[in-house]
Amino acid sequence: MATDLSSVPDMTASLEPLPRIDAYEQWQQSEGVTTVSGFYIEDLNALELGPWKRKGGRGAIVNLEGTGGVNDMHVVEIAPGGASEPERHIYEEMVYVLSGRGSTQVWYADNRKSSFEWNQGSLFAIPLNANYRMFNTSGSQPARYAAVTNLPSVLSLFHSIDFVFSNPFAFTDRFSGANEYFAGEGRLHRGRTLETNFIADVHSIQLHEWKERGGGGTNVMIELAQNSMGAHISQFKPGTYKKAHRHGPGAHVIILDGLGFSLLWREGDPSWQKCDWTPGAVVVPPENWFHEHFNTGPAPARYLALRFTGLHYRQRAAFQGGGTDVSVKLGGAQIEYEDEDPRIHAMFERELAAHGAVCRMKGLIPWCTSER
Ligand SMILES: [Fe+2]
Repeated sequence: MATDLSSVPDMTASLEPLPRIDAYEQWQQSEGVTTVSGFYIEDLNALELGPWKRKGGRGAIVNLEGTGGVNDMHVVEIAPGGASEPERHIYEEMVYVLSGRGSTQVWYADNRKSSFEWNQGSLFAIPLNANYRMFNTSGSQPARYAAVTNLPSVLSLFHSIDFVFSNPFAFTDRFSGANEYFAGEGRLHRGRTLETNFIADVHSIQLHEWKERGGGGTNVMIELAQNSMGAHISQFKPGTYKKAHRHGPGAHVIILDGLGFSLLWREGDPSWQKCDWTPGAVVVPPENWFHEHFNTGPAPARYLALRFTGLHYRQRAAFQGGGTDVSVKLGGAQIEYEDEDPRIHAMFERELAAHGAVCRMKGLIPWCTSER
């Protein structure tokens, strides 16, 4: 006769609970560094920093709501004429220079050091687990950068600080140590995708037309250092906005130029999270929340997105199925203009009027009141 297992009493009720461990959280506490959270940050340039021994300068660790814990941002400032502590780590790091100028040394083997220079607006990636050191080459101005890393995911997987920060493995398939590694123009692929390891200035890099996303927008997708993470830059015209869409967590949208706001909302939730921005702001749309970026200023708005997943090496969990520029009605993740909540465009027109700017979306939005 079969035993009815469902009737066995819970013998575990009096036992010690299994501890719940967040290895990333533990690491963060042990670093003793300033931490920042929230939906968005108004200005990375003004972010208050504290001492960060590992970096040999001042810094802060940023964990915005929309990362869902998959990635984070390290904001670091190097003193005039100073240098960071040499580091290596088994997590990817994309570096965007907020201010100042300097150089970086990168190496696997001590006798093969690559070195390159950067300025405000430069973007590059440290090859996985390469040794590196940052130098501020100005004697009078601090240099500040914001780096998006996948350390939270990596530490959660391996939960060993030694493995992540003191690992001798060299990923020579990602970085050969060649001197021109950070010098190349990169290689452009179909789909506005640029494979490169260094961009001198994200403010002025050439963008390409992206019709499907609307708003007369332009864009370039960026794949750095054979990373699993990726980046892109998008720009859209004054008095316009691109279509709402959604995807996985961890896309850090850093405003480079322009004035405007972003709306974030959960499907079916009539309340929006509104983030007003100017250059230096960063917003991370939470996983599968719809989001939309609005230009209410007199000039083009441009942003840099540093994402959890790249295009070449995909991390499937970070994608919303069906394509982020295909209508939700066709199984995609984008809301076409005619399917948008009409209150969104009304809000956009009010914000434009408040800035003395005009809407340029006549013919795109059925209920647009503009003549342009
Ligand atoms: Fe997005």
